Amino acid sequence: MREPVGHRVFRERRHARSARRHQHHFAAVPRHQRRRARLVQLAPIDAGEQRRHAGHAHPVVRARRPGLGKAPFPFSERAHHEPGGHALEQARSGPQLVLERRAVPRDAVHAGRDGAREVHQHTRTHTESTCVTPQQRHLLRFIDPQHRIHGASLSARELTCASMPHIVLVAPHFLENTNRYISAFAALDGVTLSVVSEDAANRLPDALRKRVAGHYQVRSVSDAAQLAGAIKVISRAVGNVDRLTGALEQLQLPMAEARALANVPGMKPHLARRFRDKDVMKDVLRARGVPVAASALVSSVAELRAFIDKVRLPVIVKPQAGVGSRGTHRIESAAALQAMIDAGMVPTHEHPLQAEQFIRAREFTCETVSIHGKAVWRSGTRYFPSPLEVLETPWVQYCVLLPKEVEAPWTDFAEVNDAALKTLWGPETDVAGTALTHMEWFLRDDGQMFVSEVGARPPGVQIMPLMSLAHEVDFIAKWAELISFDRWTDPGPRKWATGAAFLRGQGTRPHVTSVRGVEAAKARAGAALVELKVPSVGQQRASGYEGEGLALVRAPTTEGAKQALLAVIENLQIRY
Ligand SMILES: Nc1ncnc2c1ncn2[C@@H]1O[C@H](COP(=O)(O)OP(=O)(O)O)[C@@H](O)[C@H]1O
Ligand SMILES: [Mg+2]
Repeated sequence: MREPVGHRVFRERRHARSARRHQHHFAAVPRHQRRRARLVQLAPIDAGEQRRHAGHAHPVVRARRPGLGKAPFPFSERAHHEPGGHALEQARSGPQLVLERRAVPRDAVHAGRDGAREVHQHTRTHTESTCVTPQQRHLLRFIDPQHRIHGASLSARELTCASMPHIVLVAPHFLENTNRYISAFAALDGVTLSVVSEDAANRLPDALRKRVAGHYQVRSVSDAAQLAGAIKVISRAVGNVDRLTGALEQLQLPMAEARALANVPGMKPHLARRFRDKDVMKDVLRARGVPVAASALVSSVAELRAFIDKVRLPVIVKPQAGVGSRGTHRIESAAALQAMIDAGMVPTHEHPLQAEQFIRAREFTCETVSIHGKAVWRSGTRYFPSPLEVLETPWVQYCVLLPKEVEAPWTDFAEVNDAALKTLWGPETDVAGTALTHMEWFLRDDGQMFVSEVGARPPGVQIMPLMSLAHEVDFIAKWAELISFDRWTDPGPRKWATGAAFLRGQGTRPHVTSVRGVEAAKARAGAALVELKVPSVGQQRASGYEGEGLALVRAPTTEGAKQALLAVIENLQIRY
C-alpha cells in the first residue's frame, strides 16, 4: 500500500528540518554526508534504461557504507529477489544508509558464481544512489513505486540489530585514557559509534572525530535525563541506539536510568543499583548465601551504635555508593566512633551511611567476562596493601599485582564469583549480562572468602593495562568488541606477570616539592619497567589514593614483577 504523496513530502520535509536542527550537534559527521542525509527519494530508472534491459531487468537496491572504499554487505546473502525481478540488499552503518538502485540483467544476478561481484560489473553505469537516515527507512517502501521495493523486507529490527550495532559511548572528557576507549569502539569493523560528552566535539582529536558518527554535548554526564535527551537526538539523526555504555563507575546508574527513559537495551536501574549501591548489593548476595560482611544502611547515630552492638568493633563506615575508597573509615574503638561523630560524619535519613563488619583479610580482585550472564573468562589481581591501609597510611605506596600463573586463591574464588554474579543479574541476562565486571574480594587467614563489591564495568587501578601487558592483547579493544557484539575471543595464557605501583609522597604541602631516586629505581627495576610516570615538582597533590606518579612493570615470573615493584617504591621518593 502506498502512502499518499502529500504525506510523503511532508515527512521528508520534517526529516530535513530535524536534520538541520540537529546539525550543530553533529560536527563529527562530514558535511557532504549531512547534506545527503536529507535526500530521500530515488529517481525512477529512466525509460531508456528500462528498455535496454527490457524483459530481463533487475533493479537492485543496495545499501552501502557511505564514504568507505570497502563495502561490507552483511545482508547480501539475504538479497531479496522478487518475482517481479527486483533484488534488495541492505546494510547499515555510518550516519545513514546509502541506497543504490541498479538495473541488473537477470542473468547476472542468477548465473554469476559470485553474485555480488557480477552485479557490480554489470551495473556500474546504471547506478543511482541516495541516502536516508535509519529513521527514514519507512520511506524505503516508497523509493520506487514502479519497481515495488517492498518495505516488508526491511524490518526495523533487521536493519538496526544484526551485524551493525550503533553504540553510544559516554565519555565525560576527551582525556588520553577516555580517548583510548572511544578509539577502541571506533576501530571496530561494523560498529557505528556516537559519543556523549561534557566536552565539545572539537576537543576530540581530528583522526578520532572522523570516525565518530554522532556527538552530543551535555552539561552533565551524570544526569540521566540529559543522557536520555542525547540518545533521542542521536537516534533521530544517526540511527536507533543499540547500546549505551561507558567505563566509569559513576556513570553506571545514570546510564541505566537513561536506558530506561530512552528505551535502550541493557542494564536497567534496578539492576544497576545492585552493583552500585553497597547496601542493596550485600542484601541481595546475603539472601542467596553468597558470603559478604555483615552490613546495614544506617540513618542515625543510634542505628550505627545498634549495628556496632550487634557485630562488635571494628566496623567500616563508608558511603552507600562510593568510589576510590573515598569517605571510608575504620572504627576500632568507642573513642574513634566519637571522633568520627565530632568530625561531622553523622548518618542521617537524607545521607545514610553503609556500616559493615570489618573483615581482616588480604584483598584481591576478580575480573570476569560474561556473555548473557554466563562467565566465559576470568582473571584476578592482588592489592598490596589493601586500599584501606593505603588510605590510612598516606606514605604507603600502593601496588596491584597480576601474577603470571592462574592459580589459588583466585581459582578457588571462581565459584563464589559465579554465584555472586548470577545472583546480582538474576534472570535478566540478555543484554545486561554481557559485561566485563570487576569484583573485589577478601581472603581471611582461615581461608574464608568474602565478596567485597562488584562493578559492572572495566576495572580501574590500571588493571586494564596490566591485563593487556600480561596477555599482549589490547583489553580495551576486547571490551569494546564484547559490548558491541557479545563476542569474546580467548586472549590466551598470560605471557608475563605484571604490576602497577602508584607513587605517592610524604609531607604536608599541597604540591610536590621534591622527587628523588628516579635513576636508582630505573636501574634496579631494569628491563621489567615498561612505563614510568614521574610527578613533576610543583605538581598539585592528587586527591585520590592513586597518587601522582605511576610505574607499570612486567616480568617473566611473578617474583620478578614483585621485585620490580619493590625496586620502584623503595627507591623513588616523593615529598610534598
Ligand atoms: N567490610 C570491610 N572490611 C574490611 N575492609 C573493608 C570493608 N569494606 C571496605 N573495606 C576497605 O575499604 C576499601 C574501600 O571500600 P569499597 O567498599 O571497596 O569502596 P569503594 O567503592 O570506595 O572502592 C576496600 O578496598 C577495603 O580495603
Ligand atoms: Mg572498592
